[in-house]
Amino acid sequence: MIEKLTQNLVNLKKEFVSVYDGNSQIQEVIPVSKSELFPIERQDLELLHQFATKNPIYYNSYEKIIGDIHCIVYEGDINKYWLNSIQHGSSHAPFSPTWIMSAYVGALFAKELGYAEVIDIGSGDGRIAFCAKVLDMESYSIELDDMLVDLQKLLCTILDFNPYCSDAGIFDYSLLNLKQPIFFIGGLAQMGGISLASDILKKIDTMYDLWNNSGWVFAGTLSQKYAPDPKNEAGWGTLIEKNNLKSIQSISLPTAWTFHEPDDTPYVFAQSI
Ligand SMILES: C[S@@+](CC[C@H](N)C(=O)[O-])C[C@H]1O[C@@H](n2cnc3c(N)ncnc32)[C@H](O)[C@@H]1O
Repeated sequence: MIEKLTQNLVNLKKEFVSVYDGNSQIQEVIPVSKSELFPIERQDLELLHQFATKNPIYYNSYEKIIGDIHCIVYEGDINKYWLNSIQHGSSHAPFSPTWIMSAYVGALFAKELGYAEVIDIGSGDGRIAFCAKVLDMESYSIELDDMLVDLQKLLCTILDFNPYCSDAGIFDYSLLNLKQPIFFIGGLAQMGGISLASDILKKIDTMYDLWNNSGWVFAGTLSQKYAPDPKNEAGWGTLIEKNNLKSIQSISLPTAWTFHEPDDTPYVFAQSI
């Protein structure tokens, strides 16, 4: 199910790129209704559209048939949020969003793997935490930038996904009473993600019963502009080995930063050995 959904989303993105004639800084699509290629409940799709419609990073939307799928295209501009997000001393990654549909597929996979709580680390506008909540999981969103957290609070009027404005490297995770969490790390390995993930892994390692029940999702890259990690895993192999984790599966999903790239973003799912 996840592999098919992932492949169908990647194909939809490819088709969209080939027909898109706008010039907005970011753009993405969400199907309008449930279909064979996107067997997603109507209520869930409706909530994803509400997230995009209420989100100030998007300034335009229109209907378009892409391939055979009736979609809404959302066009946006993240400049002011990107600029604000890079001014913090403890920032490990500037703001750029994954696609809302990708956040949904990632959260769905986390749910299928049996995790109960999604912790969206470096959450941007909170879309991964939001999608986890759409799927009836408990979710928490940790974001350093105050302007983005204010935006998240606005989106929490649709569904509350528990935003915290904090440096995720010093946040006290014991406050959340976690049982079976999965941590989505929102930064590429080569751009500060290793340091962000290492701080959190260290913290969770001290909470003994939690370590064995925790899952990890690392946003990777296959871009040639970065030196490859000797242990692969889209930049995360060395960290995975060093922390006694094992990679379960990697799924490639569209993101704002890979819109013009042939490869999408590999999300590497891992757990303790
Ligand atoms: C590439 S964006 C990812 C956003 C979101 N996870 C997504 O996939 O749409 C990275 C985010 O991490 C945040 N960030 C960077 N360093 C952080 C830190 N130390 N603690 C919490 N958030 C941080 C940035 O402000 C930015 O919004």
